[in-house]
Order: sequence, then C-alpha cells, then structure tokens
Amino acid sequence: MAGLYDFNGQYTSPTFTAHPKIDPDNGELITMGYEARGDVTNDVAYYLFDKNGKKLEECWFKTPYVGMMHDMAATKNWIIFILPPLEARSLDDIKKGEKHFAWSEKQHLMFGILPRRNPKPEDIRWFQADNAFYGHTGNAFEGDDGCIYLDAPLTYHNKVSDPGLSITRGPVSNLYLFLVLVLSSRWGGRLHPFQRQAPSRRQTREPLRPLEV
Ligand SMILES: [Fe+2]
Repeated sequence: MAGLYDFNGQYTSPTFTAHPKIDPDNGELITMGYEARGDVTNDVAYYLFDKNGKKLEECWFKTPYVGMMHDMAATKNWIIFILPPLEARSLDDIKKGEKHFAWSEKQHLMFGILPRRNPKPEDIRWFQADNAFYGHTGNAFEGDDGCIYLDAPLTYHNKVSDPGLSITRGPVSNLYLFLVLVLSSRWGGRLHPFQRQAPSRRQTREPLRPLEV
C-alpha cells in the first residue's frame, strides 16, 4: 500500500516521528508528532497503538522550545522525548526561504518524560543537559533504582557542521560518547521535581535533575 496512512482517522497530528518504536513484548507501536499544531508550534502529540492498530493512548503537551525532535525512546512505563538544540527558526524566516532548523548554542539538550499509559499533558517533566547533540537512541530501560536509563551517542556542542543548518559555528566536539543518562527518579510513583542541575561533562550514569518549566 502506498500513500498516507492515518490509522483510520485515529492519528490527527500532521507530523510523524522518523523513529517510532515497536514493543517486542506486545507489539504496541509507540509514536509521536512534533510541531503538531503547525510549523514552529511547540506542541507534541504522543500516541500508543496496539498491535492491531487500535489507539490506546493520545496525549498532547508543550515543549520548552521548538527543536528537531527526530527520535524518541520508551521503556515499559515511560516515554522519553528528546529535544535537541537544533532549534526552529521563526515562521517568517522560514517563509523567506531559511532552513527550518538551526543549531543554537544557547539552548540545552532536553529530555521530556511522560507516563506511557494514561498520560495527562501536565504529567510531562523536562530534564536538561548541556548544549549537546543527541544521536539516535540505542536503548532505554528502567533500572532497579527507580531511574530511567537512556543509551545514546552524545556529542557536546554542534555536531551538525553543515553551515546551512548552523546559526553559530560553535565548537564542534570530536568526542563521540556512548552515554548512560539517568534521567529521572520516582518517589511514590510520581516524578519528583528538583531544581535544574546540568551534569558535568564526560560523565556516565550521572543523574539529570528535572527542570520545572
Ligand atoms: Fe534518524
């Protein structure tokens, strides 16, 4: 079959992630669309479908800024949304022919955590790392310590050296790490809000603190 597929009308976001996930245990499809209310909107639509294509969950929420949310990650109970500082330009600039995204040295790489089941828009919790480029998701899982672990290659500062995508030609790190990020901790089944705290560089298994936004 060729052409657009909207899950028989169940999927209404105009965008669809490049990398949805299929749960190997039950065949569920985990997916999302960003800029989901139009270009340069900070709306994300999360969807969960069963193995037969029946929608199980849908939740729309806001991001702290608009960036190229190319990939995502999931665990048994949580969805991880990755917001890298490939920031969207203004709608006016895009209409003038500028490229949609450009690297920002000012923004942080951020991670949004949402319950996989029965999520509410207000459930999203954001965590911030340094200015860094996130490659593709390797894996994500929940540790016995109540934390979410995320395996992913990470490069500090601008990994995208294409000048057409770069506002600033900031330092391009040669470091290409495979990190384990501890994104969140849960207390009593709830994500607990901490004050922001960026992790130090080159560390692994360093907890990121939730950011109140
Ligand atoms: Fe990709």
